[in-house]
This record gives sequence, structure tokens and C-alpha cells, in this order.
Amino acid sequence: MKRILFLFLLAAAFVMNGCGAGDQAGEDGQSPSEEQQTEENTGDSAGTVDTAAAEEEYKKSCQSCHGADLSGNIGPDLREIGSKYSQEEILEIIEKGKGGMPPGQATGKDAELISAWLAEKK
Ligand code: HEC
Repeated sequence: MKRILFLFLLAAAFVMNGCGAGDQAGEDGQSPSEEQQTEENTGDSAGTVDTAAAEEEYKKSCQSCHGADLSGNIGPDLREIGSKYSQEEILEIIEKGKGGMPPGQATGKDAELISAWLAEKK
């Protein structure tokens, strides 16, 4: 009788362990893939701008005319430029110039980065 009880307990413990391990493995399997997805999303998404890099490029290419705090100098105030122009329009101004602003102040990726950053200034 004792032996049967022991076997039963052993079996019960085994089943419980089995379930516990199974659940854990399931969770462990899921969470890294979720994290990975979020990382991928932020990497790909156009909505997230590398602000530090954009500011760096702005300092090099635009600050002399538009001011360190975007408030304008020779060029106009850009602090709320995102409510006036879309990213595409700002990119076009950077590449083609506008009135007194010479074209090509920034090009390629730098221009895209700055325009995405400025488009968020609303
Ligand atoms: C040599 C000076 C100069 C530099 C450098 C310069 N700009 Fe300008 N920018 C101007 C001037 C002047 C205007 C006004 C043009 C006009 O409307 O006649 C202007 C206008 C703009 C406008 C349109 C503003 C509006 O309200 O219509 C944007 C956007 C802009 N600049 C972005 C930039 C960005 C981004 C950079 C850096 C990549 C940059 N500018 C570099 C002189 C400059």
C-alpha cells in the first residue's frame, strides 16, 4: 500500500513538473520574439527619429542660418516647421533650396534624417 502511494506521489510530482516546465518554456519562447519584433519596429519605422544624430547634422548644416535653438537667424524660425510642412516638403527645401536658402545644405541620409526630425517640430 505504501509503495503504491509513493508511486502515485512520484507520478503526480512528475506530471506537475512536466507541466511547469512546459509553461515556462512557452513563456521563454515567446518573450524574446516579442522583444525582437519591437526592436525591428523601431529600427524600420519612419516615426522614430534618431534625435541626437539629427541635431548633430543640423548643427553642422543648418544652425548657422537657422540658429542653435531653431529660432532663426538669417533663415526663418524652424521651431514649428512641422506644422507648416510635411517631411517630404522639408526634404525638398533642403535638397532644392528655397528663396534665399541655397540648395544641398544636406544630402542623402543626412537630409532625410534632418527633415524627419524637423517634421516633428510642431
Ligand atoms: C546659408 C543659410 C542657410 C542654411 C545653411 C540653411 N538655410 Fe534654410 N533657409 C535659409 C533662408 C534664407 C530661408 C528663407 C527662404 C525664403 O523663404 O526665401 C530658409 C528657409 C528654410 C525653410 C523653409 C522655412 C519656411 O518657413 O518656409 C526650411 C524648412 C529650411 N530653411 C530648412 C533648412 C535646413 C533643414 C537646413 C540644413 C540642412 C537649412 N535650412 C540650412 C537659409 C539657410
